[in-house]
Amino acid sequence: MNFSLTSSSVFTQKQPAAILFAFESQPVAGPAALKNLLRRLGPKEFRGRERQFLLLHTAGKLAPQRVLLVGLGKEKDFTVETLRRAMGMAAKKLRDLGIERAAVQVCDCDSESCAVTDCLQAIVEASLLATYRFRQFKPNDESNSTELRSLALCLPPHTDLKVAKEILARAQIVAEATNFVREIDNLPGNVVTPRVLADYARTIAKENNLKCTVLAKKELQQGGFGGLLAVGGGSVNEPQLIVLEYDGTSESQSAKPNAQRPAPIALVGKAITFDSGGISIKPSDKMDEMKFDKCGGVAVLGILKAVAQLKLPLRILGIISSAENMPSATSYRPGDIVTSYKGPDKRGVTIEVLNTDAEGRIVLGDALAFAREQKPQAIVDFATLTGACVVALGSFAAGLFGNNDELQEKIRASAERTGERAWPLPLWQEYKDRIKSDVADIKNTGGRYGGAITAAAFLAKYVGDVPWAHLDIAGTAWTTEELPYLTKGATGFGVRLVVDLLRHWS
Ligand code: BES
Ligand code: MN
Ligand code: ZN
Repeated sequence: MNFSLTSSSVFTQKQPAAILFAFESQPVAGPAALKNLLRRLGPKEFRGRERQFLLLHTAGKLAPQRVLLVGLGKEKDFTVETLRRAMGMAAKKLRDLGIERAAVQVCDCDSESCAVTDCLQAIVEASLLATYRFRQFKPNDESNSTELRSLALCLPPHTDLKVAKEILARAQIVAEATNFVREIDNLPGNVVTPRVLADYARTIAKENNLKCTVLAKKELQQGGFGGLLAVGGGSVNEPQLIVLEYDGTSESQSAKPNAQRPAPIALVGKAITFDSGGISIKPSDKMDEMKFDKCGGVAVLGILKAVAQLKLPLRILGIISSAENMPSATSYRPGDIVTSYKGPDKRGVTIEVLNTDAEGRIVLGDALAFAREQKPQAIVDFATLTGACVVALGSFAAGLFGNNDELQEKIRASAERTGERAWPLPLWQEYKDRIKSDVADIKNTGGRYGGAITAAAFLAKYVGDVPWAHLDIAGTAWTTEELPYLTKGATGFGVRLVVDLLRHWS
């Protein structure tokens, strides 16, 4: 999409459509010609309720050919998420009307709940996210033919255009990284294998000046990555551990020669390119959705891409543990005891496998131990880890776990700002007791109850005292219904949240 910035009003734009947001039961601001058009309306035609729209033809009375009024609901309930949703729905509406160019008035309330800069970011992000569709296998589809292609962003007259330009660029980077993640997520298991994922990582590294190291089967065997090898053992598509490194601190380093290199922040992701359950095979109903079991790892790819383009002054490590979980004669079995990567410990954690479908925690164990070995200042992991998390929170929030209140609070704040919600769940000792095994250090299931928490307790075994947060994105990584600013399929959850977290890291 092509964006332009202007500090003139939306009513001066010669465009097929102008988007105008309005609060519930408040007069719509605009020139006399607009007031005249509005005067003809019946009392129920447009009240500004959330999700309410009205398309007015201006018949030559105003520069834009049409005005699309979009309701925001009551002003006292307004957040940037309200605006994201309204803009997302407006972009889809225009597309359905076959309108490809529009202007939008960026609100100028500039109250605490809504700064112009936040509104601008929300509008840009929502319009890009809402118009993304997974088209590559249906290129000639009729409904794919029109798209909102150009959006003029009309800022209130007092806005600093230089600042606005920066925010526009940033919002584009983040939204485009999110859509990039969604596209890979949406690709099926026959197209994206662990090796293909490693190729994506190499390409991102090349394009953005990152370091990329891939451990394939042989290196995993030499290194003792017993968990990832066990999970990937049943598939002809061999497992891969993908490591991306970004260093945005080197410039400031040369300024301060004695300064120590700061410790990296490690981002760890589960990337099961297809989760059939393995020998503990899943029921066939909805098994197709398990192509999305790679979303945590792919989010890490997208975050690294965005962070490099934003040139954040941090060191970041992306670690993606990728395998395909399949049943075969070479699969790992229930009852097997596997040994994780040892990391900084004397020996690797041993796992009694009770269910081969609880594979995510096993591949993450190796990756977390590897992350800890790099002496990071913090670890954040992402995984479509448990169906139990979806039972607990539905599709409206990710489960948030960890061992560090400060890190959790930062993530909660980013979740509020970005609308990518995360909600804390406890990690009390009783849950950790549920995964004790008679024959190994831990077992890979803790029973049906509290399943999201016992899975997180399993991960906690690997991080020691490093500040750590775990996001269970099983309910949020993809959507089976159309959402205001997202479309059916992968959501790219985690990219906006964690880029915001890293921008506010300090
Ligand atoms: N990838 C699944 C979790 C999942 C299921 C995510 C449904 C989204 C929707 C994970 O590997 C899994 O199968 N977990 C099991 C664990 C159980 C066997 C202890 C689950 O949640 O049922
Ligand atoms: Mn599974
Ligand atoms: Zn899984």
